[in-house]
Amino acid sequence: MHNICLIPGDGIGHEVVPAARRVLEAAELPLRFVHAEAGWSTFERLGTSVPDATIKAIQAADATLAGAFTAPSVKVAGFQGAIRYMRRTLDLYANLRPAKTRPVPGCLPGIDMLMVRENTEGLYVEFERRYNDIAIADVKISRSASERIARVAAQLARERRGQVHVVHKANVLPITSGLFLETAMDVIRREYPDVKAIDIIVDACAMKLVRESSSFDVLVTTNLFGDILSDLMAGLVGGLGIAPSANLGDREAVFEPVHGSAPDIAGQGIANPTATILTACLMLEHLKLREPAQRIEAAVDRVLEHGPRTRDLGGDADTETFTDAVIETYHAL
Ligand code: NAI
Ligand code: MG
Repeated sequence: MHNICLIPGDGIGHEVVPAARRVLEAAELPLRFVHAEAGWSTFERLGTSVPDATIKAIQAADATLAGAFTAPSVKVAGFQGAIRYMRRTLDLYANLRPAKTRPVPGCLPGIDMLMVRENTEGLYVEFERRYNDIAIADVKISRSASERIARVAAQLARERRGQVHVVHKANVLPITSGLFLETAMDVIRREYPDVKAIDIIVDACAMKLVRESSSFDVLVTTNLFGDILSDLMAGLVGGLGIAPSANLGDREAVFEPVHGSAPDIAGQGIANPTATILTACLMLEHLKLREPAQRIEAAVDRVLEHGPRTRDLGGDADTETFTDAVIETYHAL
């Protein structure tokens, strides 16, 4: 039996996490669910976006499935973004974001790539200062964090097509981005001689991702570049409604869709649960429940292809109708 901690969070998290849970329950897997809370609404009520009890629940679970967390774009005293707090507190240093061709409108063919984003440093250390009309932010790059993320990327590439693009901006930032580049290339060449490491500058990478997407296997990069490029990658395969992700540390694992809390559609029951269902599949793979993971993924693809589809993909199905169709298809496979 695996213990799964569910954290719906904010907005459409309360719609897509229950949908994914329904699929997991219908598959009759050896999973036991507990609930925990986090996010903006938790902050408004308790003054903290991630209560200690939630951190303990994540630690006690074998894996956590989260929905989405709202974060205001202005500074709010005492507030820390929930997912960033979890990543930092639990040292969830690897953010995996796969992008794969699926049968949906606007999706390019032949794509099967994986972003491995460093999740704990870069610009996300949040050392920002303001001097009247000038604002400055620090960026942190360490050899140890660059090494461990490069290892994750190379290890995963080994199980895939054996290629890692190391994405950087060392031409402009030779000290910070340079340290990442040098460390990642070194580790892969030294410890994974069977994996091909290719260095690529981030802006050229953005263009190549659009024009030659099928040439990519694994990409590894620093926090902000990984955040931006992974949304671009999601855009290439049909958008945020279908993009899953994992945050992995050496102990805990928190799985969440790439999208946010979507306040513009929250509460209407029309959110696309695909990203969260595919995120649950990543979680099942992590728990070594590979066969049901692949079967659920196949059911999702079948429904994406033949409908019903949700509105973001041009259909008119609501969250529940789509989820029912996935469950029905799963049983029929
Ligand atoms: P968002 O991802 O919430 O929404 C962007 C657009 O995509 C919206 O039009 C939304 O309706 C649509 N969308 C997203 N997910 C969808 C789904 N499953 N089905 C159908 N349509 C979907 O990003 P936005 O609007 O920039 O941010 C909203 C809030 O979410 C902010 O507070 C932001 O901080 C937070 N956020 C949280 C993330 C996380 O928890 N990891 C990631 C990104 C944003
Ligand atoms: Mg993002």
